[in-house]
Amino acid sequence: MQGKFITLEGGEGAGKSTQIERLKQYISDCGIKVISTREVGGAPSAEEIRIFWLNREEKYWDPLTEVLLIMAARREHLVQTVWPALASGTWVISDRFVDSSRAYQGVGFGLGIEKIDAIYREIAGDFWPDLTLFLDVDVDRGLERVASRKGIDDRYQQKKQSFHAKLRQAYHDIAANEPKRFHVIDANLEEDRVSQLIRDAVSRHFKISPPPKS
Ligand SMILES: Nc1ncnc2c1ncn2[C@@H]1O[C@H](COP(=O)(O)OP(=O)(O)O)[C@@H](O)[C@H]1O
Ligand SMILES: [Mg+2]
Repeated sequence: MQGKFITLEGGEGAGKSTQIERLKQYISDCGIKVISTREVGGAPSAEEIRIFWLNREEKYWDPLTEVLLIMAARREHLVQTVWPALASGTWVISDRFVDSSRAYQGVGFGLGIEKIDAIYREIAGDFWPDLTLFLDVDVDRGLERVASRKGIDDRYQQKKQSFHAKLRQAYHDIAANEPKRFHVIDANLEEDRVSQLIRDAVSRHFKISPPPKS
C-alpha cells in the first residue's frame, strides 16, 4: 500500500521544524511507519545542492537559476527518499516542499506560480502532497522567534518585514486555491496547542487515530 505524503509550509519561525517531530511521533503512535525529511535537502545529493546553494550570498543567484537548483534538489529528494518510502508503505512528512517555491520564488521573487508549476511538473509529474499544513504565524512573531533561535542557517531570515508579509499572503492565496489539500493551522498559539491542531487535522484527513490506551 502506498504511504501518504504530508508537507509542512509557512514562513520563518512558524514552528515547522518544531512540529515535524511531534507529528512524526503521533503518526507512529497510530501504528504507521513514518519518516521525516526536509527541503532544500532530504537526500545526500540534495543536501549537497543545499550547501552549494546556501554558500553564496542571496543576490548571487538569478531567481530562475535558484529555482532550477532547488528543483534539481527536489528531484533528488523525490527519487532517492520520498518515492521509495511511499512505495514501501511508509508515510513521509517534509519540512517544506513545492509550495515554498511557489511562495518564495513564484510570488516573493516574482517568477509567477505558473512558471514554478511548469518546472515542477517536469521533475514530479502529477505527484502532489496528500495533505499540506500551512503553519500561519504573524510575521513579527515569527521573526521574533527566529531571532531567539540558535544556529541560523536559512536564506530568507534577514529579509525585510514586508517581504515576509508578502510571503504570508502568498501562502494564504495558495491555500485558498486548493482547500482540499491545505489545512491552515494557527501557529501563533503555544507549541502544545499547535501540535494538537495538527494532530486533529491529520487524524480527520486520513481517518487515523492511536489505539485506545488499556
Ligand atoms: N508555538 C510556539 N510558540 C513559541 N515558540 C515557538 C513555537 N513553535 C516554535 N517555537 C520556537 O520558535 C523558534 C522557531 O521555530 P522553528 O520550529 O525553528 O520554526 P520554522 O522551522 O518554521 O522556521 C524555535 O526556537 C522554536 O523553539
Ligand atoms: Mg525550520
